[in-house]
Amino acid sequence: MNILGINCVYHESAAALLVDGKLVAAVEEERFNRIKHGKEAIYDNPHQFPERAIRFCLKQAGLKARDIHHVAYSFDPKLRRTRFKPEWWIPQWEDVFLLRLGQVQGVAEELLERSLRQKFHFVSHHLAHAASAYFPSGFDRAAILNIDGIGEAAGSTLAKAVGQRIQTVETFDYPHSLGFLWEVFSGYLGFSSYDASKVMGLAAWGDPKVFRAQFEQILRADNDNYGVNPDFIGFHDNKYDKLAAMFGPGRFDESEELQPRHADIAAALQEATNAAVMALVRRIKRRVPSENLCLAGGVGLNCVTNEVVWKSGEFANLFIPSAPHDEGTAIGAALLVHCAKAKKPPQRGYSTPFLGPSFKRSEILAAVKSAGLKARRSKSPAREAAKLIADGKIVAWFQGRMEFGPRALGNRSLLADPRRPEMRNILNQKVKHREDFRPFAPSVMAEHADEWFEVGTPTTSHEFMLFAPAVRLEQRKRIPAIVHQDGTARVQIVSRKSNPRFHELISCFRDETGVPVVINTSFNDSEPIVCTPMDAIVTFRKSGIDALVMDDVILTAKG
Ligand SMILES: [Fe+2]
Repeated sequence: MNILGINCVYHESAAALLVDGKLVAAVEEERFNRIKHGKEAIYDNPHQFPERAIRFCLKQAGLKARDIHHVAYSFDPKLRRTRFKPEWWIPQWEDVFLLRLGQVQGVAEELLERSLRQKFHFVSHHLAHAASAYFPSGFDRAAILNIDGIGEAAGSTLAKAVGQRIQTVETFDYPHSLGFLWEVFSGYLGFSSYDASKVMGLAAWGDPKVFRAQFEQILRADNDNYGVNPDFIGFHDNKYDKLAAMFGPGRFDESEELQPRHADIAAALQEATNAAVMALVRRIKRRVPSENLCLAGGVGLNCVTNEVVWKSGEFANLFIPSAPHDEGTAIGAALLVHCAKAKKPPQRGYSTPFLGPSFKRSEILAAVKSAGLKARRSKSPAREAAKLIADGKIVAWFQGRMEFGPRALGNRSLLADPRRPEMRNILNQKVKHREDFRPFAPSVMAEHADEWFEVGTPTTSHEFMLFAPAVRLEQRKRIPAIVHQDGTARVQIVSRKSNPRFHELISCFRDETGVPVVINTSFNDSEPIVCTPMDAIVTFRKSGIDALVMDDVILTAKG
């Protein structure tokens, strides 16, 4: 049975394909159309499908459109009609939104060139998130927390899974949305609403005490409950006026200089978020007794909060998928339809992020040739790359299947030497053009993680760069380029099993330097992560990357 999962209701458009319960492909539309997040999150485009992502999934599985047995869409208009109150935003927008959702099945039928009738399924957005975390976790039962912007009406959902069955336990409907709160503060602090990660980076520079009292009025949290004050979020225009009255004028332009006040606001937001999420963790522990917790929803990308959750020890086991935000719902929706329609349960515990396109050496060489460049083959690309990194070079490392999720995890990565404090500036000047206050993340060999970072017991999700443990005090001077202002790092643990080629590279770097850690940042410059060899070559040529390694094909800046 072949099931196509689709997310495109808001943003992070993506497609995923299950064949007999096995996940064979998942990919974001942005990697093909080169528009960040795939499309804008607006009320009149939930019928804009990730067509190229869908085509890739079919090609990867060797299937034709007619081979798809079911289509799962990760949003449920019926649930929306019953739970969402039109007065929460502009009622006419809601009408248009629902009209567009009414077109969705027709768009799927046009794409697949046949009538789908009962084979098209709308799936609850938060249950799709829940499934995207639960089945890959490998747990046979779990408590599941979704913390998000909004699903049909809920900002957060508590759910319970036993065997194949996932049930909603409780929802915290709008306005109690931590995701929206971060979007609002991102805008107020001068970033786009998608830039929660910038706010998170800025928070480490601030003092949460400065605005702690103000945040008690915005986001309250007690032992096992939280609430967001609707005056400060939502679709009305005056939210920034309210924030300005409380915190001073907003920073509405990224070119405006950041003040210590901005970092203090970010720090207080991070602190309040940690408290609210911990309240939800204690609440679900009470309502769904289990050793196992799955986390999903966009807030699952907050590695500082994730670290607090993991270190709290409330749950013995924790799993967060590589794509906890909306794109992951393409996988989750397909999994839920599989559970409803297939006789056999879906595959469990398959959590690899390497689900996107890969390219043959012949395709890589053809791209190099068509770009008019000269390349050479290497007998030991990992060793050569490691030597270049140890010499202070920036190496683009392009290998195997592209990552699903927002982080480059060693297949579409830019790598550099963490021992050199100047590497942050060099990376920013030559390629990344990011704000100076943002940290760069490290990747460490699994065997040595504990010697360098206060990871505690690592989970599978530590392979997805989703936690921010402290860098061990005695090691900070040895890898200064990846230590954030507060002494933490958003570390990725790399095992030989999960990514043998990347593991080999870091191992070679260790042979050269004695340090089993490299800087790992996504292979892009202010655009979606590169997907094809040609995307890689274009970014290589227009930036100051010193070497590009694709499979065993090496290009250097000097030619
Ligand atoms: Fe979501």
